[in-house]
Amino acid sequence: MTVAVVTGAASGIGHALASQLAREGHLVHLADVTPTAELAAQLGGVPHQVDVADSQDMQRLADNAADAAIVCLNAGIVGPTTGAPWEAVPAEWDRVLRVNLGGVVNGLRAFVPGLLQYGHPAHLVITASLAGLLTFPGGGAYAASKHAVLAVAEQAALALADTNVTVTVLCPALVRTRMSEIGDDPAEVAADALAAARAGQFLVTPSGWEEAIQRRTDLLTTGGTPQMPRPTAEPDVTSAYDVPPTPGVRQMRLVVEAAEYDEALRFYRDVLGAPVELQIHGDQGEKVTILDAGRATLELSNPEQVAMIDRFEVGRRVAPHLRVAFEVDDVDEASARAKAAGATMIAEPTLTPWQSRNARLTAPAGLQLTLFEEPAAEPDGPKGANTTETPPG
Ligand SMILES: NC(=O)c1ccc[n+]([C@@H]2O[C@H](COP(=O)([O-])OP(=O)(O)OC[C@H]3O[C@@H](n4cnc5c(N)ncnc54)[C@H](O)[C@@H]3O)[C@@H](O)[C@H]2O)c1
Repeated sequence: MTVAVVTGAASGIGHALASQLAREGHLVHLADVTPTAELAAQLGGVPHQVDVADSQDMQRLADNAADAAIVCLNAGIVGPTTGAPWEAVPAEWDRVLRVNLGGVVNGLRAFVPGLLQYGHPAHLVITASLAGLLTFPGGGAYAASKHAVLAVAEQAALALADTNVTVTVLCPALVRTRMSEIGDDPAEVAADALAAARAGQFLVTPSGWEEAIQRRTDLLTTGGTPQMPRPTAEPDVTSAYDVPPTPGVRQMRLVVEAAEYDEALRFYRDVLGAPVELQIHGDQGEKVTILDAGRATLELSNPEQVAMIDRFEVGRRVAPHLRVAFEVDDVDEASARAKAAGATMIAEPTLTPWQSRNARLTAPAGLQLTLFEEPAAEPDGPKGANTTETPPG
């Protein structure tokens, strides 16, 4: 029975790799920080509790599977920071690099000498990320760790050329795992990775991103400044629906019951700066003010999209069924004004992967607000559209 090893086997891509390898008849060593005994029993494999950041743990794993024909160095984590590099604290940098980069280096140190000595054909399958081939503005320490993993995989491929050991590096975009609620099916990602390994292919990239990778190289080598990577073809959402040629709706008005009416009026009119369009005070105590809040749009999102936006703006799931978003000129200044006027910050302004700056707060009349500032328009049009794009992982 041929032997396989998968790190990060308890979940997601690792689980899918282990499952396929077991189905194909391998004896799979399932390594993870979380227990894999139950999965090992299901797959007829061998459980190992391993922290890939610990070189001794990895050496023990390799000692138990020295005759492996396929070693998948896949375990990885994303830190809590999905912003600019300086926003992640040193401990986060340390942990992300120790797991993502250290885990791969420890795996190579533990397995490669034995695989070379043993001499039978063997494949190393290393999971990096599209975030290691392209640089997105968010991602904290994760992006750097994945660029480094790709470099290490390339070094390994160069050093192992003409030996019995091949190297394949996997660079998926978003994959539906514990790490991301949206994206590709992990079973398909695993199947592509194993097929590429057997074909001796080094790099596995997600389809639709090839031109973006090429563009990045062209841009950097011709002295350009970094730009937000975009896939070759943006999904054509409008063609998926039957859009009437003439809009049947002239205006969107959000009607909010405000028990503390005067407080709400002061906040939205005076603090946020929405001018009064119409005000009627009835003789039975009825009061209504219609504020001009700029252009109105209706953003329909499925739960996965709402969760993704929550993750980038706040870092956790907080949005209620209805959330109101106001575009402002200066989100830091508008948030400070809102806070001083009694709004409660849920998340301070943060740069989203599509380069708008967004803040989240609880405001009068019980509304959860996003204040957002779009990136400055470039001569050929706006650079990003708030909330409608999905950055890959
Ligand atoms: N999901 C995505 O969108 C995506 C995209 C590109 C790349 N990746 C990469 O794919 C790999 C697998 O991630 P996933 O998406 O399946 O996520 P996941 O969270 O579902 O699975 C990761 C597994 O790694 C394990 N793990 C974490 N730290 C570990 C450690 N120190 N030692 C041992 N095991 C550890 C976790 O317990 C978990 O079982 C990661 O390297 C990730 O960076 C994921």
